[in-house]
Amino acid sequence: MLGNFSYCNATKLYFGEDSLKYLNDELPKYGKNVQLIYGGGSIKKNGIYDAVVEILKANGKNIIEDSGVMPNPTVEKLNEGVKIARENNVDLLLAVGGGSCCDYAKAVSVSINCDDDPWQKYYIRFEEPDCKIVPVGCVLTMVGTGSEMNGGSVISNHQEKLKIGHVFGEEVMPKFSILNPKFTYTLPKKQMTAGIYDIFNHICEQYFSGTDDNTSDYIAEALMKSVVHSSLIAIDNPENYEARSNIMWCATWALNTLIAKGKTTDWMVHMLGQAVGAYTDATHGMTLAAVSLPYYKFIMPYGLSKFVRFAKEVWDVNPNNKSDEEIAKEGLSKLEEWMKKLGLAMNISELGAKEAMIDGIADATFILNGGYKVLTKNEIKQILKESL
Ligand code: NZQ
Ligand code: ZN
Repeated sequence: MLGNFSYCNATKLYFGEDSLKYLNDELPKYGKNVQLIYGGGSIKKNGIYDAVVEILKANGKNIIEDSGVMPNPTVEKLNEGVKIARENNVDLLLAVGGGSCCDYAKAVSVSINCDDDPWQKYYIRFEEPDCKIVPVGCVLTMVGTGSEMNGGSVISNHQEKLKIGHVFGEEVMPKFSILNPKFTYTLPKKQMTAGIYDIFNHICEQYFSGTDDNTSDYIAEALMKSVVHSSLIAIDNPENYEARSNIMWCATWALNTLIAKGKTTDWMVHMLGQAVGAYTDATHGMTLAAVSLPYYKFIMPYGLSKFVRFAKEVWDVNPNNKSDEEIAKEGLSKLEEWMKKLGLAMNISELGAKEAMIDGIADATFILNGGYKVLTKNEIKQILKESL
């Protein structure tokens, strides 16, 4: 049964190989000062920076540079971005990059006019913004997070060994996002692989919860099938537009709030992965991959019928003459096979985690209660040990 909900997605999308030109339609809606947010320089190498700057100049904008947003953006970088925005009285935060740039832009957007300490207010106390929010726009160059069409913003605090996400409301979502699948052609294989698993796991997080019949789960299955189908094509042939465009569209739908509507959700792989990330600063999608199988094997008996459905619907497991447990296990084996073919990190040791870190990582793991089993701290430690 679908629960009650309201649904609004505030982000306007422009999708396709000519989508960047629509920046010309959006820019006139905002004031003159544009904070141009980007990462470590990939956009300078692949020409996206020049193309964006040309459009900004043609629209008479003052460009305020804010580069060096690192993967897993830090609280120090957030404070720096807020300072730049305040000094330049910015009217629009334009993120050109992946989830890190887009998440960071959202964090800056709610902090510019905030009198409080943003880390404490938004990431420790999970309060909502009560100040004027500066609008965010996004030109996406990496697939995975869904940040281009959601209110999520994840910030890392290395001093406190915490990586925390705040899901802000509609008013913080990007006002517009430009999605050109060709912009992903230059992604290193490792990033593309991590992004693909991030997408798949976002869907799993919303799927592996609840026992009721609801439309969201059917949409989730269709998205998972599309990701699996396009994944290896997109990895082996980076310039295969069909596969890259399907992956990009799946990423957006996997986490733009739609498939969570009317149902409960899990998100424990992300809680574990984020805690691993806080200790290792590893690539987000890889942290998820490294803890997924131990976690799913652990919760499978508590949500057996959904794991059976996953095996049959997503992995085409033939159920004939098999027990439910055998079917469910076969589904997870197929998942493992696919993950290995993609070249994902299959354990947290590969990412730099050590046995001595397990207690700390377990302490940094938020325990949520929407999945098939509410984990105890000891069970979290057990899953992390099995992930080593
Ligand atoms: O910094 P540059 O030089 O641009 O290089 C980036 C970066 O090193 C590179 N890259 C991006 N586009 C490229 C490219 N290289 C070549 N060609 C291109 N077209 O890729 C690297 C990774 O980029 P990043 O933005 O860090 O990746 P991703 O999109 O996976 O974002 C990760 C962050 O998003 C958070 C993660 O925790 C992490 O902090 N998440 C945000 C979510 C949300 N907003 O809802 C949900 C997710 O679960 C996730 O937690
Ligand atoms: Zn994710």
